[in-house]
Amino acid sequence: MPSQEVFSKPDGAVFTTSQGHPVAEPYAHQRAGRNGPLLLQDFAHIDMLAHFDRERIPERVVHAKGGGAHGVFEVTDPIPDLTCSEFLGKKGKVSATARFSTVGGESGSADTARDPRGFSVKLRTEEGIWDHVYNNTPVFFLRDPAKFPNFIHTQKRDPQTHLKDADHFWDYLSTQPEAFHQVMILFGDRGVPDGYRFMHGYSGHTHKLVKADGSFVYAQFHYISNQGTKFLTQEQSVKLAGENPDYSNQDLFEAIEKGEYPSWDFCVQTMTPEQAEKFRYNILDLTKIWSHKEFPLRKVGKLTLNENVKNYFAEVEQIAFAPSHLIKGVEPSADPVLQSRLFSYPDAHRYRLSTNSAQLPVNAPLNLPANFQRDGTMAFHNQGSRPNYQSTIQTLSYKPQPYTFDKHEQFVGNLVVELSQITELDFEQPRQLWEQVFDDGARERFINNVAGHLGGAKSDEIKQRTLSVFNAVHPDIGAGIAKALGVQNPAALKPLPASEALTFRANINPQA
Ligand code: HEM
Repeated sequence: MPSQEVFSKPDGAVFTTSQGHPVAEPYAHQRAGRNGPLLLQDFAHIDMLAHFDRERIPERVVHAKGGGAHGVFEVTDPIPDLTCSEFLGKKGKVSATARFSTVGGESGSADTARDPRGFSVKLRTEEGIWDHVYNNTPVFFLRDPAKFPNFIHTQKRDPQTHLKDADHFWDYLSTQPEAFHQVMILFGDRGVPDGYRFMHGYSGHTHKLVKADGSFVYAQFHYISNQGTKFLTQEQSVKLAGENPDYSNQDLFEAIEKGEYPSWDFCVQTMTPEQAEKFRYNILDLTKIWSHKEFPLRKVGKLTLNENVKNYFAEVEQIAFAPSHLIKGVEPSADPVLQSRLFSYPDAHRYRLSTNSAQLPVNAPLNLPANFQRDGTMAFHNQGSRPNYQSTIQTLSYKPQPYTFDKHEQFVGNLVVELSQITELDFEQPRQLWEQVFDDGARERFINNVAGHLGGAKSDEIKQRTLSVFNAVHPDIGAGIAKALGVQNPAALKPLPASEALTFRANINPQA
């Protein structure tokens, strides 16, 4: 078996075909006579074209545009009191790779879009890969995973016009009031971070930190930027989208080249099962946050990005993060969106990269897997002659998990029986943003940002419905946007009372 070094000759290597035949002149091709047709026997030419024809792989269905870098994750403040993870239980460093992204646009789209940012980190621990597949906002647009593909479609291109469509966007949102906490963040000052270095990252989902005796606490994870946070105004972001669509990627790459290594503190918020039952909100509802005052952040570690990638495709495009890549002592909660994501990501990797995506160097765990998985496309590590079933003659040893799960099965708390059901609780946290977090300037920018986007919708009905939901958050928002829209017939856009925002879905689909 030749070494992988064969595939990475240093500079000055002889120009060859894919089969290693030296080629005298890369631009030359064989033809019959001086002006005759090209020859099928010209392997070098066909080899080159055929490879070119297959250069593109599917881009990520969401988060297609992104940039990344390598670095180090250091456990600075171990938490053996919370988890049986050996990695989190003692001080130490592991290699890490991060990828940041926008969500809705294609791989060539502008970095400064008003869109959440993806915040993914791959940690290569002795206990296996631990992926953090987070966003830069602590909440999300939905708590029912069945909505996700439809919601994403409303931000993608119209099937006929191939244009983005403000009607689709607001038509969806105005019937899903649980999304408005995220909408408030998205159209507020935090909606467009000034590059990837100046934003925080949040698991959003509740996880569980489990100890060897099976006891656990619920946990939310946070990356806090040591650069602080900086944001772009709507005007700046639109200008940059035209002038430099790769603004954030460039900023990250150049900062690392200059030795200005960005770093984030990794913190955890915890809640006992008993606290969770008494908590005002359902901890499995991704549209809600846990107050920092009630559940303070505890620092665990630090991520530092200190090395640019050498090859974007191999190290960023082919990296594959999944919320299901978890280590011992860190478990998913029953959050239905998280549960759905546990399936969706590895499935996307099989499609996007192949069934053996975990064997790509950037994805490979520190200790090569030993199991009964074999073959498939591009099986580089096919585990030699080891039997591919649980054989009596093989040498595989087994390491059972040290705990049996305490599943907290009795938990009902404020459980949302029907995930789509909207209650007044859904408007509390967005209202707090408006009343307690935004100042006057932020409120004005928020109104203008929403009006700028909603103004692109053609349907008065959609506008009216959207205003009604904003009205349920706070009457000043609905009224402010209606005014900013400068509509000829304000009566047609008059915000509906909050109570009506709660019954939209029933009106649209009486069966729901
Ligand atoms: C990317 C599905 C919700 C963060 C992706 C990808 C899929 C997906 C299929 C592409 C993966 C790939 O090709 O490698 C879903 C589904 C969701 C959901 C089905 C809900 C039901 C979320 C939430 C967050 C999130 C709530 C954050 C808290 C990300 C990030 C990426 C991503 C950061 C980019 C990963 C990368 O850099 O490669 N999502 N997603 N997603 N998603 Fe989600």
